[in-house]
Amino acid sequence: MSSTPTTPEDMLIIHGGTPLQGEVTVRGAKNLVSKAMVAALLGTSPSVLRGVPEIRDVEVVTGLLRVHGVDVDLEGDTLYMDPTSVESAGVEEINVHAGTSRIPILLCGPLLHRLGRAFIPDLGGCNIGGRPIDFHLDALRKFGAVVEKAPDGTHLSAPDGLHGIRYELEYPSVGATEQVLLAAVMAEGTTELRNAAIEPEIIDLICVLQKMGAIIKVHTNRVIEIVGVSELKGYRHRALPDRIEAASWASAALATEGSVFVRGAHQADMMTFLNVFRSIGGAYDVDDDPVEGGIRFWHRGGPLKPVALETNVHPGLMTDWQQPIVVALTQADGLSIMHETVYENRLGYTSELRQMGANIELYSECLGGAPCRWGRRNFLHSAVIAGPSKLHAADLQIPDLRAGFSHLIAALAAEGTSRVYGVDRYITRGYENFESKLQALGAKIERPVAQESHATTHAEP
Ligand code: EPU
Repeated sequence: MSSTPTTPEDMLIIHGGTPLQGEVTVRGAKNLVSKAMVAALLGTSPSVLRGVPEIRDVEVVTGLLRVHGVDVDLEGDTLYMDPTSVESAGVEEINVHAGTSRIPILLCGPLLHRLGRAFIPDLGGCNIGGRPIDFHLDALRKFGAVVEKAPDGTHLSAPDGLHGIRYELEYPSVGATEQVLLAAVMAEGTTELRNAAIEPEIIDLICVLQKMGAIIKVHTNRVIEIVGVSELKGYRHRALPDRIEAASWASAALATEGSVFVRGAHQADMMTFLNVFRSIGGAYDVDDDPVEGGIRFWHRGGPLKPVALETNVHPGLMTDWQQPIVVALTQADGLSIMHETVYENRLGYTSELRQMGANIELYSECLGGAPCRWGRRNFLHSAVIAGPSKLHAADLQIPDLRAGFSHLIAALAAEGTSRVYGVDRYITRGYENFESKLQALGAKIERPVAQESHATTHAEP
């Protein structure tokens, strides 16, 4: 087991070897919901967001909005946000609510518009890579923000307001594109963003902003043009479904040789995943009823097929789909390749899979169709997976959210009883009610019997 410790209670016991069968529902995408909540800050009237999942990231943003004076109320999966009395928050309060979340970066544009100042706690890297914010700060400076680094974090102000810019991203970063959108919608003049990210969650955020009164044109070739307006109103919006969660359940069905109907899964946002799923040996059936619809995923029977894949920005294979797919590929008959091109360090979790019997080697070379940014920099960002491997139970330490879910899948597919540590710290950030969903699918899971606390305090990675 790797060394990142959690409390003994933060653990799930999984008796593996049972195919997952049944139905789960996915609600709004974590990576849209949190941004749409931030967008509500820009309105002069309340916003209503539907399809909000019960995940910790939503609690984090709720806390951040509340300390900035936004009235936030959750009823069922509908979130009501009233930003009419936005106010400054203290560094301490922001730190308490932000934890290790990266969301405070995205509050900058809206807070600079509403209050003329903003604060970003020090974020640092994480287990998947350095996670720099240079694109964000560079763009904000060009908009006219004054950025001051202090011992407690980064303070921003906009003494002369924000003004539209012509800006080209070095890489189509999702967060930096959102940063530019949230700053540009109320900046004076027009903004042209080149090499923008165009993930479905970005397009859905653009829909939210458009409902608020923003003028945003998405051109071909990753160019987005935003005409600044002086006022935005609140919105009513249903979040697009979580395609990462949907692909996670699909991969779990494949790895355990089961069959799972993912209610809410949306075909158009998952086209690339569906092609990969089928090429590995999975089958799916799309029901596109707008209310009851979803996608049923199952194992076609017989051996899975090896494939060579690389992650990329949309419409490529999502980096967040990589980990569950790799678990399924441990069962493919032959050599598969996974070239991770988005983050430099997103294959570390494979050491736990090796411990379970998977045959996976990491390489610093680009083993994909085209060289990527990490090839010459010695990052172990390509994996060769030799299958099929019989997975056996192990004690696993979750390193991050997506890798964590893939560890759960591996434990579900393995023979024997695994203990997975870190589920409360990581999985609950982005997978709502995952334990009851697993139980509904027939997974044999249990929590450890409560014992005297040996809990110690640990820093977040
Ligand atoms: N990058 C920079 N400088 C920047 C910003 C990004 O070099 O200022 C680099 C990153 O280091 C990375 C690449 O650009 O190598 C892409 O990062 P991006 O900014 O696109 O990622 P993000 O906005 O921080 C979001 C999701 C991630 C998802 C990525 C890629 C949220 C909250 N997070 O992160 O989701 O993997 O886009 O699609 O939307 C997750 O849900 O578990 C998760 C990590």
